[in-house]
Amino acid sequence: TYVVTDACIRCKYMDCVEVCPVDCFYEGDNMLVINPSECIDCGVCEPECPAEAILPDTESGLEQWLELNNTFANQWPNITRKRDAPADADEWKNVPGKYEAHFS
Ligand code: SF4
Ligand code: F3S
Repeated sequence: TYVVTDACIRCKYMDCVEVCPVDCFYEGDNMLVINPSECIDCGVCEPECPAEAILPDTESGLEQWLELNNTFANQWPNITRKRDAPADADEWKNVPGKYEAHFS
């Protein structure tokens, strides 16, 4: 599966949802997640994300993100259409520590 990581937080460009063939993105207030049970590993979303927030879970150190994606995909609503990104999305691009600021 692919997972959405902290780079998505407060950026939320939503280009990813437009290309996913199985519509497996779910939307929270500050970020999106992928449902690992539905993702077919096609990889087309990865290069679409301007924040480079989407990674294959085969990369090391992503266990926490896999768990978070799985948890919230089962709580948040499905999203299949891109809307405008937050007005300050570009200001949050590449900002470190976004997870700590928003989830703890
Ligand atoms: Fe959707 Fe493919 Fe991305 Fe998985 S890898 S979330 S199936 S676009
Ligand atoms: Fe987030 Fe990138 Fe999609 S910023 S909403 S994972 S395009």
